[in-house]
Amino acid sequence: MTTAVLDVYLTEADGHAELRLDARSGLTAIPKALPPKWFYDAAGSEIYERITELPEYYPFNAEREILRARAGQIAAASEAEALVELGSGSSEKTRLLLDALAAQGTLRGYLPLDVSETALREATSALAADYPQLHVHGIVGDFTRHLARIPSQGKRLLAFLGGTIGNLLPPDRAVFLRSARATLGKGEQLLIGVGLVIDPAVMVPAYDDAKGVTAEFNRNVLRVLNRELGANFDPEAFDHVAQWNSEREWIEMRLRARRRMTVHVAELGLDVPFAEGEELRTETSAKFRLGGIRNELAGAGFELTEWWTDSYNRFALALATAL
Ligand code: AVJ
Repeated sequence: MTTAVLDVYLTEADGHAELRLDARSGLTAIPKALPPKWFYDAAGSEIYERITELPEYYPFNAEREILRARAGQIAAASEAEALVELGSGSSEKTRLLLDALAAQGTLRGYLPLDVSETALREATSALAADYPQLHVHGIVGDFTRHLARIPSQGKRLLAFLGGTIGNLLPPDRAVFLRSARATLGKGEQLLIGVGLVIDPAVMVPAYDDAKGVTAEFNRNVLRVLNRELGANFDPEAFDHVAQWNSEREWIEMRLRARRRMTVHVAELGLDVPFAEGEELRTETSAKFRLGGIRNELAGAGFELTEWWTDSYNRFALALATAL
């Protein structure tokens, strides 16, 4: 069995220090906000897996439908020798791309980048075992900071699936796309999955499901703060809120305090007062239109070369070439 290589640019200590900074600035900000990346501890990643199985959460199946239908075209268009995957959670979707690239005979390497060393170790060893010819090289890092560390190994396809680009606020998205462009050489490609702007009556339930799985996912960030920073949040004292912001064209998830309370964050020596009904923003999930994506890509030095949607036009895969 071939073993996978793993480069670590982000340690647990780095993650902890960053959580402290995010918690201090976010919990003292007006309005209060926390970045969505802190949802994904082991429990949160498991809850997210359950979200992908919900009937309301269409983005997951829609993207898989597109990948199943288009993996061959993606492989042919990219001629990639290496697949680089950012925030590589979903190995099922990765395999669709790897199989198509392998069938074409160009593929030599798979380079997943993820913040979770544990998740990456599991994923890379499973893939190295199932694809013995493939050079598997994991990178423990943050896609907003460590793109430049991705080794150059022949022609690369940089995949950013799941609609996760929508969790970046517009200025951060622009920075991300520019750093992706700086990482890639001319002619290399970027594949991004994006949720599309559709009827709010379809979008909102995807983030506010009947079983309350997304509500638990949302409250999980409070459990992360309790465990990691010695906070004393009562997660049940917060209601899950998911709203469509039609002006910004994003879904906003928040946690709304059911009552007035003061939360103590021991490790920060911080007391955080909440008024009754006060909200803490935990995620924005932007939805996109073809024209907007094309412009954002162009602004970063990419040309949109392909645009594939699912059969309900709810989700799209955009393939772009570095100019
Ligand atoms: C798949 C990470 C992009 O914004 O749709 C699911 C995460 N948040 N339900 C998304 C998520 C609430 C998600 N991403």
